[in-house]
Amino acid sequence: MLVSVIHGPNLNLLGTRRPDVYGSESLADIELALNTLAKELDLELEHFQSNHEGALIDRLQSCRGRADAVILNAAGYTHTSVAIADAVEALAGAPPVIEVHLSIPEAREVFREKSLLARVVAGRVEGFRGLSYLLALRAASALIARRGEL
Ligand code: DQA
Repeated sequence: MLVSVIHGPNLNLLGTRRPDVYGSESLADIELALNTLAKELDLELEHFQSNHEGALIDRLQSCRGRADAVILNAAGYTHTSVAIADAVEALAGAPPVIEVHLSIPEAREVFREKSLLARVVAGRVEGFRGLSYLLALRAASALIARRGEL
């Protein structure tokens, strides 16, 4: 079973960007921890990061019929991108998309309060810094195991 992990803009800077908000782990640290947990859960993982909206949309579209679940941190595009929300909606739950955030965006600036993705994702995990991704992977594993039941 394949889980596709997609990271949006500026997440390549994790570790150095606002460690007070996002934690001190780099993206490579988070990917390593995810790979370790994926082995335990018997899941295959692929990782993708881009600072470009179109590249993120291409990656989401490529998940149809190929991935069994998607973990998406669309970063700043969460609050602005109708096009990324449309790409998630177009997947129509196959595969399901889990929205992830390191911080709790709603507890920060007003412009982060709205997620355009919230209406179209299977669920959300936020606020646990790097651990949010690991919790999302556990959720993905449970969703895959209970496919069709939830
Ligand atoms: C973020 C929250 C967003 O508001 C922000 O633009 C990010 C990271 C998070 O993981 O907490 O880049 O998605």
